[in-house]
Amino acid sequence: MKNIVILISGRGSNMEALIAERDAGRLPVNIAAVISNRADAKGLETAAAAGIATRCLDHKAFAGREAFDAALAACIDEFSPDLVVLAGFMRILTPDFVRHYAGRLLNIHPSLLPSFPGLHTHQRALDEGVRIHGCTVHFVTAELDHGPVVVQAAVAVLDDDDEASLAARVLRQEHRVYPQAVRWFAEGRLTLIDGRVRVAGEVFEQDALL
Ligand code: GAR
Repeated sequence: MKNIVILISGRGSNMEALIAERDAGRLPVNIAAVISNRADAKGLETAAAAGIATRCLDHKAFAGREAFDAALAACIDEFSPDLVVLAGFMRILTPDFVRHYAGRLLNIHPSLLPSFPGLHTHQRALDEGVRIHGCTVHFVTAELDHGPVVVQAAVAVLDDDDEASLAARVLRQEHRVYPQAVRWFAEGRLTLIDGRVRVAGEVFEQDALL
């Protein structure tokens, strides 16, 4: 069974979705550890309550990004993960860190990338007046919120949406597609070849949108 390490910074609802799928027997992974850069991340309590090893590495205790990322990689590698899953981990990662985990580092972002990288994605989508919004699971590259797309889910933007209602609609999709992407990896079906994602045995239907 594949070993995964999950990195969080806060609430940890995507992490919870992964734990729930594992507990339901639909996600054949060993969640070896959950690591946060913030001691007050609510997700740390949730992970500990689920019996998962937790670590906290406060980025503010390090001289710079390189020093933090080196310590973070050392902490992650203690658990020998096949895959590192960024689940609301709100840190920009150094190129060295990203290279170290090339092909085994996934992120989820609350927009249809390449639209709206960075923060406040839902408000920006509303401000732009887009009619379709969503989330993206992607392999991580050195560029922020960028990299080969594994799976996306689209939602309609409704006339009476505000940031909270749109965020909630997207989050429901995040909780669906992130476990799906991790399952593909766990089953050895998800590969990255020459920067292109392939999912063996999966039929993507166009009319499955919305
Ligand atoms: C999620 O919406 C995730 O997509 C986003 O942070 C939230 C974390 O929620 N990530 C990013 O914006 C990364 N650029 P969670 O802690 O409840 O999973």
